[in-house]
Amino acid sequence: MLVVDDEELIRWALRAALEGAGHRVVCAADGAEALARFEEGVDAVLLDYRLPDVDGLTLLARMRELDPVVPVTLLTAFSSVERAVDAMRLGAFDFLAKPFDLDHVVAVTAKALETTSLRREVRAMRARQLSSIDAIVGESPAIVALKRQLAKFARSASATILITGETGTGKDLAARAVHAASARADGPFQNITCSALPESLLESELFGHEKGAFTDARTQKRGLLELADRGTVFLDEIGELALPLQAKLLRFLEERTFRRVGGLTEVRPDVRVVAATHRDLARMVEEGTFREDLFYRLGVLSVHIPPLRERAGDVPLLARAFVAHFARDLGANVVGIGDAALDALARHGWPGNVRELRNVIERAVLLAEHPVIEPSDLPPLGGALAASPPPSHGEPATRVALPPEGLSLVAVEEDLVRQALERARGNRTRAARLLGMNRDQIRYRIEKFGLHDVGRSPG
Ligand SMILES: Nc1ncnc2c1ncn2[C@@H]1O[C@H](COP(=O)(O)OP(=O)(O)OP(=O)(O)O)[C@@H](O)[C@H]1O
Ligand SMILES: [Mg+2]
Repeated sequence: MLVVDDEELIRWALRAALEGAGHRVVCAADGAEALARFEEGVDAVLLDYRLPDVDGLTLLARMRELDPVVPVTLLTAFSSVERAVDAMRLGAFDFLAKPFDLDHVVAVTAKALETTSLRREVRAMRARQLSSIDAIVGESPAIVALKRQLAKFARSASATILITGETGTGKDLAARAVHAASARADGPFQNITCSALPESLLESELFGHEKGAFTDARTQKRGLLELADRGTVFLDEIGELALPLQAKLLRFLEERTFRRVGGLTEVRPDVRVVAATHRDLARMVEEGTFREDLFYRLGVLSVHIPPLRERAGDVPLLARAFVAHFARDLGANVVGIGDAALDALARHGWPGNVRELRNVIERAVLLAEHPVIEPSDLPPLGGALAASPPPSHGEPATRVALPPEGLSLVAVEEDLVRQALERARGNRTRAARLLGMNRDQIRYRIEKFGLHDVGRSPG
């Protein structure tokens, strides 16, 4: 319990009553101290409305932001309805007017603490659901195989795993799923992106350092490999790891022990390493930028996630799952996605893979003008089009890049005519203008593709 009040007598009385009821109590006399104690982790807060350095409502809002699970009960010397309403609106758990009855405070506190443990359970359950293997959506053979493989990998507790795949294919998701499905599920999951830090910082981030190891090392610091003890370390973008760190990582993977930077003693944490990359490590080995021995060490259990364009059958499943997720998350009035919109999604090439699809759906759910998402609710797609580079000097402004795998010109043509008709709400003259055509030219294409009703509202 955290008790925040600037009056010593009140702190004393509350502490005595709450400790008498079997709770552990920490006190703070002002806002700054209260936040410091709060960040160390508490289960519930009793917060005085008026403090010397900050007002209670501001502090309440800040605490709600830091950890919405922790119930905050406000105490005030002046009971006023508006104030109570303000407090409740900001998410206060309860509101107690001074002078209060200590038995009542103890009863409210017991209820608050019960809420905390319930909320924590729900949060942990949601986190488990979100990161389980079942959270990986897809029925394509590649994804079914991936899920089976991840489940198998999870059964060994310490074997190193390598996940490869283009950006946005779900490498992060897969790494978390293995962790959640393994015996380490209750341990920490630490992740770091190897390209995010310069080499020396990355080294001390991973392996830690001793006090005085270098100029800025004022205290000893434990690295991620130690912090992840009994859990999993996820090394993202392993292909960007500098050669000296590759050597140090290899030694750790082989001997399961390392020294902190500037240290002499061996540290022996119990962790599983999962690495991921969008790079072709075999090619990097040939080029001499990635150690061959580390490559083989990492590759013992390896899995490749194919790009979304190679499992287009999963697009509707993913789209529906994201619609449901965002409709709930954003409180939007969207209940589903229509076939025409799904068709439009299926024709796109998805260079950004599942992440791109997720973003497209999030935007569509936010901006949708229909309860069932229609093509006009989607941003302009069309594989080739979305990936087109900005026009450079001398090229026509509408230049479209041909994707490496090629495309069907007829399908693109049909899609563009359809989009134009939709945007023009069925008005052929306006649709034709959008495509730089005359009415005859567009009528010919409407016949050819059977687009007579596109863009027209039924009835
Ligand atoms: N099969 C899937 N089912 C459900 N959600 C998915 C799936 N694949 C990816 N996602 C979601 O798509 C987004 C991108 O996935 P993720 O971050 O795992 O990709 P990544 O491969 O790590 O990308 P990068 O290489 O850019 O780091 C995430 O929000 C993830 O939850
Ligand atoms: Mg990632």
